Amino acid sequence: MSSAIKTVQEISDPRLSGRAVKRIAFDEAAIAARVGELGREISAAYPDGELLVLGLLKGSFIFLSDLVRQITRPLQVDFLVASSYGDGMVSSGTVRLVYDPETQLEGKDILLVEDIVDSGRTLNRLMHILGERKPRSLEICALLHKRIAGGLEHETRFVGFDAPHEFLVGYGLDHAENFRHLPYIASLQ
Ligand code: PRP
Repeated sequence: MSSAIKTVQEISDPRLSGRAVKRIAFDEAAIAARVGELGREISAAYPDGELLVLGLLKGSFIFLSDLVRQITRPLQVDFLVASSYGDGMVSSGTVRLVYDPETQLEGKDILLVEDIVDSGRTLNRLMHILGERKPRSLEICALLHKRIAGGLEHETRFVGFDAPHEFLVGYGLDHAENFRHLPYIASLQ
């Protein structure tokens, strides 16, 4: 190959099982560099206190595992599982906690880790639920932010990238539960 820049059509990735993707929005190197910066920002932002990093499953699982290894201060990790949807395929507009962390939140610095902020509905509801547990502080770290949420009640303090308004998969993000394991973030055709 003469050029270092490959179009997606030129990339033969068996993980895609033939599915066409439009482009790679963020490649492995760009993600790793930005996650390293976020780790340094977060380490500096919490000079003291008990830091509890709460990963929102499933989408955040890869981002969270990379991020916590870039944070150079003591911390604990737990997870939340929320569901934005009821039994149907259309969003019910409600967010339900399917798994609630057993860890005590009161008095701790809570960092809620999300893969992507889209409508912001999930975060608005979760921040309300977590705020009631009387943490010392409560902040959000999102790898991607679509910047379209008009009704966001809380600023996302740590943002990896502004996301293009495309359907993104990989690095934890799925389409019908597929493609979460891609090491890069791509947009689907
Ligand atoms: C996705 C994504 C975020 C949320 C963002 O989760 O991971 O958590 O939606 O959307 P919002 O800003 O419009 O609320 P999803 O419910 O698809 O679950 P998943 O993390 O298991 O993929």
